[in-house]
Amino acid sequence: MVVHYTELGLVNTKEMFARAIAGGYAIPGYNFNNMEQLQAIVGACSETASPLILQVSEGARNYANQTLLRYMAEGAVEYAAELAAAGDKPIPITLHLDHGDSFELCKDCIDSGFSSVMIDGSARPYEENIEVTRKVCEYAHKHDVSVEGELGVLAGIEDDVSAEESVYTRPEEVEDFVSRTGVDSLAISIGTSHGANKFTPEQCTENDRGELVPPPLRFDILYEIEENLPGFPIVLHGSSSVPRHLVETINKYGGQLEDAIGIPEEQLSKAAKSAVCKINIDSDGRLALTAAVRKTLAENPRLFDPRKYLGPGRERLKQLYKDKIKNVLGSENQA
Ligand code: G3H
Ligand code: 13P
Ligand code: ZN
Repeated sequence: MVVHYTELGLVNTKEMFARAIAGGYAIPGYNFNNMEQLQAIVGACSETASPLILQVSEGARNYANQTLLRYMAEGAVEYAAELAAAGDKPIPITLHLDHGDSFELCKDCIDSGFSSVMIDGSARPYEENIEVTRKVCEYAHKHDVSVEGELGVLAGIEDDVSAEESVYTRPEEVEDFVSRTGVDSLAISIGTSHGANKFTPEQCTENDRGELVPPPLRFDILYEIEENLPGFPIVLHGSSSVPRHLVETINKYGGQLEDAIGIPEEQLSKAAKSAVCKINIDSDGRLALTAAVRKTLAENPRLFDPRKYLGPGRERLKQLYKDKIKNVLGSENQA
């Protein structure tokens, strides 16, 4: 069934991004694969009055079924309206395809009600990336759907989204890429990467407290891009901070996560004040949910009702998403 996103109460990213750049904050790009994640995300954004970009990856479509996910997103709009009727502020919601790898996938999402798609051609040769991104933009813009492209390659490995080595975005290519493709926003590579192991301990230095500090993001690249294309929306992927206390909780209750190191939150707050208007955070949510579920099960060995351990997981997740909005992204009260 072909459906346009406006019929589902969703919005594209145009106004959200314009306001985020002018206001010096970033909008959360939060991924969901199941009901508990969706409830935590919508609850967190409604309670903090933050605009929301709800993300679905190809992996999520494979895991949860694409039709079901689409209806869940429609349900999320209704759920947010219900929360607003009960006292929270109404929030704008974008439904976004995360890391689309082909024109066909992007078209399928646009036809089924997504209001924004990412075409990630970053692993392709430059001209091919331009070609596929241009084609997606042409189709998407006919339907007033926003398109995010990617230039430069993020390091790290996470499921289907993988790249052995990071190749920083070349600022001199950005203007050419944007003008020839017509993209509405661009994901760039300045030192972030996907997953919970973003740096090896060898890449880090030790501070006074004996903590490992990763190398700083390449703000020089970000600022050069911003200077070349003032007001153009930039996106940061791979922006989980991998909080140490969550890793410690997971390991205390049977997990074995080694050398998990993320992007320090101060670096992300600094980026949010620039042309970066969307920050993607997924791994931190996975850690929060897993930490709470492991702890609950370990402390209550007789539990077998999923609501009794997924419930605390969902609560912990909502708290994490709210903290990010308030303390890192700055999107609180911007709905
Ligand atoms: O960037 C990747 C997101 O965290 C989604 O991950 O492909 O495992 O769903 P996924
Ligand atoms: P993290 O793995 O750092 O959470 O990044 C998520 C992401 O970029 C989703 O597209
Ligand atoms: Zn990503």
